[in-house]
Amino acid sequence: MSRSRVRILVINGPNLNLLGSRQPDVYGTETLADLERRLRARAVGLDCDLEMRQSNLEGEIVGWLQEAGKSFDAVVMNPGAYAHYSYAIRDAVTAARVRLFEVHLSNVYAREEFRHRSVIAPVAAGIVVGMGTLGYELALEAAVRSARA
Ligand code: DQA
Repeated sequence: MSRSRVRILVINGPNLNLLGSRQPDVYGTETLADLERRLRARAVGLDCDLEMRQSNLEGEIVGWLQEAGKSFDAVVMNPGAYAHYSYAIRDAVTAARVRLFEVHLSNVYAREEFRHRSVIAPVAAGIVVGMGTLGYELALEAAVRSARA
């Protein structure tokens, strides 16, 4: 029996292009390219299609989410600091009916108070926090499973 392949979009928000050199004590030493390699290998195991994008621009991320509602089964996103205040990104998730899995590398609850709140989390299907880059793998697996459920 054939089933159409699950398509997952991974979005990394502002400053995540600096992974590897940005506060390695907080975010680790893996670069975004290392993360992409790891997720691609994981996507092979999960038998899904994976696309990975990064932007420092809120409007570009909004556009990608609108596109994702039509062209992807689910999104894994680390919104970076936008998590804490972007109602535009939250609205895009709702408007485009995106099945979203939010990821934060660091344990945002153990950090500054402004990081304790995500305005996007209430519209996410799931959240992974504080597990480093493993969190993306866990979110990818959850996204694929939920798309197939
Ligand atoms: C982050 C946490 C955010 O507070 C921060 O602004 C980031 C990275 C994380 O992955 O832990 O850019 O989303």
